[in-house]
Amino acid sequence: MNSPFFDKHSFPVCLAPMVGLSHAVLRAVIQEYMPTQDNKISPTIWPTEMLNSRRLPQEILGCNSETYVHEGETHLVPQLLGNQNQEIKDSIIKLNTHWDLSGIDINMGCPVQKALKHNYGVSLMGDFDYAAQVVQYAVEAADECERDIPISVKLRAVGSDKSADELCRFIEKLAEKGASWITLHPRTADQKRRGQADWDQIKFLKARSPIPIIGNGDIQITSDIFSMLEETGADKVMSGRALTARPWLMWQVGEKLNMAPPSGKDLLKAPQTEVEEGAEYGRMLLRFIDLCEEYFIKKVGLKENLVLRKIQFFIRTNHVWLQFGHRLMALSNRSQTLNELRDHVNDFFKSEQIMYKQTELRQ
Ligand SMILES: Cc1cc2nc3c(=O)[nH]c(=O)nc-3n(C[C@H](O)[C@H](O)[C@H](O)COP(=O)(O)O)c2cc1C
Repeated sequence: MNSPFFDKHSFPVCLAPMVGLSHAVLRAVIQEYMPTQDNKISPTIWPTEMLNSRRLPQEILGCNSETYVHEGETHLVPQLLGNQNQEIKDSIIKLNTHWDLSGIDINMGCPVQKALKHNYGVSLMGDFDYAAQVVQYAVEAADECERDIPISVKLRAVGSDKSADELCRFIEKLAEKGASWITLHPRTADQKRRGQADWDQIKFLKARSPIPIIGNGDIQITSDIFSMLEETGADKVMSGRALTARPWLMWQVGEKLNMAPPSGKDLLKAPQTEVEEGAEYGRMLLRFIDLCEEYFIKKVGLKENLVLRKIQFFIRTNHVWLQFGHRLMALSNRSQTLNELRDHVNDFFKSEQIMYKQTELRQ
């Protein structure tokens, strides 16, 4: 496996796959904050929303927001949900035909009832041998594509019925079947996204894993990223919710690593203070709305009310970092059109807004 994601030029942070959030608009917004090296964005993993392998083979890619990819996107590692050989194979071959793939991630962490019912997502962690078989299906499908498509797996922590040693044995099995790296979100399925992510499990796993480990869970600010890298030895850090709120985390990390700033931003330095970050959130949200209109309405052909709901979900996820986020959320929920929402956002950010460095993560 020759992955650009774990060499010294690779960026240490990546976005998490999140249903309803990790679509082309969020990726584009974050990419605009990526620091550069030799005038290029340094490689990192770009996920998609979770794509269901039962449906994907029948879908036309780009006809919905989950499968829309904007022009020139590279280093895509879409996430697949599935457990059947043929469905996984058809999905990977289809994705490879249409996209410039840099890998495929298998979801073994989704705890929702629907996934449990079909015995995929986190339920695969209940049967290590079958889970390893699923990796093998994906590796064999990738081999048929006749190019290097690494397969990764995103896992949760094991519950109290299993020990961390068992998790290590599980990862060895996945690696034997050809998994190229593992992402660990160290919360159990029962915890969903509540409670605290147990970074000690990342450290434990990293010390024993034959393949790279990406650590995930509870990143809020730049220092959390460097703490996770240092405390756990993880090969990379994955951030979900925080990157929806402050996508300029990428720029802040780049500054610490003496990388060149993103191209095309008016600011010379990444926003730092609570007030600078509050103002940047407002600019970022307007850009997010514009791109939702450009991609999802004009290119994909979605109806405005559906796109509005996506933006409302985005705000509901990240408003917790704003001092008066509940007010912004109420304004967004009241908006009937994108223009009405833009007016509310413009008004709201006319006065100074404070963005908290840390907040309680409940969702
Ligand atoms: C709204 C939402 C949807 C999510 N959907 C997925 C998913 O489809 N696949 C997955 O592997 N993880 C999913 N996650 C979990 C995230 O990838 C990540 O593991 C979790 O949010 C912890 O990281 P964070 O603290 O940086 O947000 C989702 C999280 C959120 C908030």
